[in-house]
Amino acid sequence: MRTLALLTLLSASSVFAAVDHEAAFKADIAPILEKSCANCHDPKKTKNGKVKAGFDSSNLKSIVKGGKEAGEGIVWGDASKSSLFKTVNLALTSPEDDLAMPPKKSHEKNPPLTKEQVAKIKAFIEAK
Ligand code: HEC
Repeated sequence: MRTLALLTLLSASSVFAAVDHEAAFKADIAPILEKSCANCHDPKKTKNGKVKAGFDSSNLKSIVKGGKEAGEGIVWGDASKSSLFKTVNLALTSPEDDLAMPPKKSHEKNPPLTKEQVAKIKAFIEAK
């Protein structure tokens, strides 16, 4: 009986300890993407309702899935494998790269992310 009670307690506490990705996304990440990505990657904002490279930045589920060519948008726990992080980080390290997001030539309408915002995205993906 005691073991059972302990197990119940343990599983309940691990539920509470788990990161709430959806809440963190809404609070910290969505506002960044709305400002810098939505014009090209949110089907509600693009002119024809299509998103560039098949990457839909408007909700967490489609971001996790990723776009056509760059692999999964989010691999939980590993930003270096996540196209969401790789593309925004490229904008800091290799701004001329075609996959640097938002694209350099569009910065007037789609502000590039600050180092702090890129770090926030990394922390979001790797939070435990
Ligand atoms: C001005 C339009 C525009 C904006 C703004 C923009 N992107 Fe893109 N995005 C593109 C284009 C065009 C491509 C395809 C680039 C290529 O394949 O050479 C692309 C590709 C991508 C891909 C790769 C998808 C795949 O798997 O093929 C990701 C991920 C991505 N963008 C994320 C973002 C994020 C995150 C932001 C905001 C920080 C953003 N983009 C802002 C136009 C845009």
